[in-house]
Amino acid sequence: MSTELDPTTLMKKQVGEAAAARVQSGSIVGLGTGSTAAFMIQALGDRLKSGDLKDIQGITTSFQGEVLARECGIPLTTMNEVDRIDIAIDGADEVDPNLNLIKGGGAAHFQEKLVEAFANQFIVIVDSGKLVDKLNLSFLLPVEVVPKALNPVTKAIEKLGGNPQLRMAVKKSGPVVTDQGNLILDVKFANGIDNPAELETTLNNIPGVLENGLFVGLTDLVLVGEVIDGKPVVREIEAS
Ligand code: A5P
Repeated sequence: MSTELDPTTLMKKQVGEAAAARVQSGSIVGLGTGSTAAFMIQALGDRLKSGDLKDIQGITTSFQGEVLARECGIPLTTMNEVDRIDIAIDGADEVDPNLNLIKGGGAAHFQEKLVEAFANQFIVIVDSGKLVDKLNLSFLLPVEVVPKALNPVTKAIEKLGGNPQLRMAVKKSGPVVTDQGNLILDVKFANGIDNPAELETTLNNIPGVLENGLFVGLTDLVLVGEVIDGKPVVREIEAS
């Protein structure tokens, strides 16, 4: 059986490893969620095992990340036990030209924003297919909602011009339930999102919304994986 990775997976692996290489010994590291972040977590584990990296502590952003980080031998801590996070690294679903993001494809955006907003440096790792001119033209915006507020929040989002759909589970009957025990509405705005900063605040001000997947003004650096002439290349885009 061939072990060759498809181009997108290759790009994810490349940026995951490139980001892990930037972590310094002694750091407290926010560990993102998703398939790209998983490569970064594995690469951090490999650096620890080889002795190239020492004394790091990870803060996970989901149950998925916690299981993987433990498997990879990364010592873990929590937000309540530290007074800083040196660096956080995570994937994204869309990145716009201002480095604003849509996240939450894995329903983990609440914990991700908590950790990444607190970090001194936030590095986003994506394959080139995640770069877009405008947010929400193709990827729906995830909004985490407390279950008993589902109907009022749905109506409030419709009033804002959004089309919310309850995210349904795969291999389980009924909706996706988040790590916090809440539900996800995936929202489409007809012409995409014109003002991400304003919409992020407006959505979070609806009673019953825990957090939405717009990450505005948080990104310090994006590492973009590309395949050029069959070879994986990592491009850096720094926030201005
Ligand atoms: C998790 O909820 C998300 O924010 C992920 O970080 C995002 O969906 C990117 O995931 P992939 O790296 O799997 O595309």
